[in-house]
Amino acid sequence: MTNTDLINKINKLKKEKNAIVLAHCYQNLEIDEVSDYVGDSLYLSKMAAKTNADIIVFAGVYFMAQSAKLLSPDKKILLPNITSGCLMADMINSKQLDEFKAKNPNIPVVCYINSTAEIKAKCDVCCTSSNAIDVVRNLGVEKVLFVPDTYLGKYVESKLDNVQVITYNGFCPTHLRIRIEDIENARKNYPDALILIHPECQRSVIEISDFVGSTKEIIEFAKSSTNKRFVIATEKGVVDRLNRDSKKENWDKEFILINDKIVCPNMKKNTLYDILNVLENETNEITIDESVFEGARKCIEKMFLLNVR
Ligand code: 13P
Ligand code: SF4
Repeated sequence: MTNTDLINKINKLKKEKNAIVLAHCYQNLEIDEVSDYVGDSLYLSKMAAKTNADIIVFAGVYFMAQSAKLLSPDKKILLPNITSGCLMADMINSKQLDEFKAKNPNIPVVCYINSTAEIKAKCDVCCTSSNAIDVVRNLGVEKVLFVPDTYLGKYVESKLDNVQVITYNGFCPTHLRIRIEDIENARKNYPDALILIHPECQRSVIEISDFVGSTKEIIEFAKSSTNKRFVIATEKGVVDRLNRDSKKENWDKEFILINDKIVCPNMKKNTLYDILNVLENETNEITIDESVFEGARKCIEKMFLLNVR
């Protein structure tokens, strides 16, 4: 079947079943052809909470589909490829979280949305890379524990006066592939470019870049900047979308991926064929254990309460 056939079939089924497709910006570009909303994890979780659709196909990774289920418990949430996990989210389990908390007692725990429902159920509030600074600031405490991403946690600490952020030692293997040499090479090869970087990267690399932001912030900065060339230090999907939109909308801008290994293998697992398959058969449905559901839902809802954006 050609991509056009797949796209037509998916769009027809979406109408018949009152279904929508949510796609993260790290997905393969062709997924956008069948997607109702494309964006970062914060935007997609808001869309999941808002929609009147009966079925949400979540083209992203497992924790994102779980978050959609927590926010839309009455809807059917389908993950096109059930093995699309997040390596960072899998770096902390319930026992490890208990140990981390026991070592640092009586301190509120903030978890990155890149975590399982089991972990969220044991944390006070969650955040995404778009709102992490606001969430921690708005908690109004002097000390927080932050799981699982040590780099995002430390970045948040660097942006706030008088808040100590004690981080768990998780990380994103994809973003950690960005090294100081990559930035140095980019400066040499593209001296006119601005370097835009995600806060999941190492501190030493962040410090020598021009702009730090979440997926959404990087896209917004790139669009509004008067600069013409940008080196993007985050996942390839962001670069693909920026170059596509630049061409389509005549921005006359060029976006270069910092190094060709910055590809999240799990994000790329979902295919158009998988989307058609789950829509047709309503398979790969996300369910969440009752014992963690309420706690995890509260953890996400507190983020919306604390976050001003
Ligand atoms: P965003 O919160 O920017 O969408 O990022 C999600 C993610 O998995 C980054 O690696
Ligand atoms: Fe997880 Fe990293 Fe992939 Fe994001 S890019 S989904 S943090 S492994």
